[in-house]
Amino acid sequence: MPTATRPSLFKTLKLPLGLMLLGILPIAASAFRVVVMSDPDAHSTATPDEARFLAMPVSILSHVIFGSLFLIIGALQMSSTLRMRHRKLHRKLGYAALIAGLTFAISGVWMVFFYPSHSLGALHIDIGRVIFGSSIIAVLTLGIRSALRKDFTQHRAWMIRAYALSASAGVQSYLILLALAINGSFDAKLADIMMWVGWITSAVAAECIIARPTNRKPQTV
Ligand code: HEM
Repeated sequence: MPTATRPSLFKTLKLPLGLMLLGILPIAASAFRVVVMSDPDAHSTATPDEARFLAMPVSILSHVIFGSLFLIIGALQMSSTLRMRHRKLHRKLGYAALIAGLTFAISGVWMVFFYPSHSLGALHIDIGRVIFGSSIIAVLTLGIRSALRKDFTQHRAWMIRAYALSASAGVQSYLILLALAINGSFDAKLADIMMWVGWITSAVAAECIIARPTNRKPQTV
């Protein structure tokens, strides 16, 4: 009788590690922001853009901390091996990801309305943040609803959308770095274009992944 072989750790973690690599720049920027804001001299050395964060620290800190957690936990949730072999863990991490995702997306949208604009801030970027931040809130809610209804095909689709829209922060960072390398200097207008390219390519990539035929049976978590 054929015996089921255990997938290697590398095979199990290949996709999560790849996704974490995609999110590494916003995660590093988040760690940097937390360190800078915890400096006792932060108020005296802050630029006017940073002073906005120090005046209302809760929203930026919850945004960067929970945004990083969502990118890490969400990446682990995408491993089919982890999902199939450790269903209870998938469920527990799912609730943690839901809380992290809702917290970072709500605080992201909140900052658009209640923080004074960044010195390089453009209105169309704020509009994009509201559209994509609200979309994350909506798709996460639909994702948890479909899981509770045990519709795991829909649950998979909504969660891929939620992760892709969140990971667009990573795609945007790589695109802005690429534009910087090609242009030779930072250009705010080019960076803004890269923000939109990042949002749109991430949303399209999610739809392509969802539409791809899969030979796996729908899961029962
Ligand atoms: C579509 C989802 C997102 C929305 C709507 C959003 C929204 C925002 C907003 C409004 C700000 C303040 C910008 C400013 O006025 O300077 C911000 C900053 C920031 N966000 Fe997000 N964000 C999103 C995704 C993420 C994710 C997934 C991360 C990952 C950890 C992240 C990390 C950061 C960081 C590090 C900053 C601070 C940048 C700095 O230090 O100047 N964001 N975000």
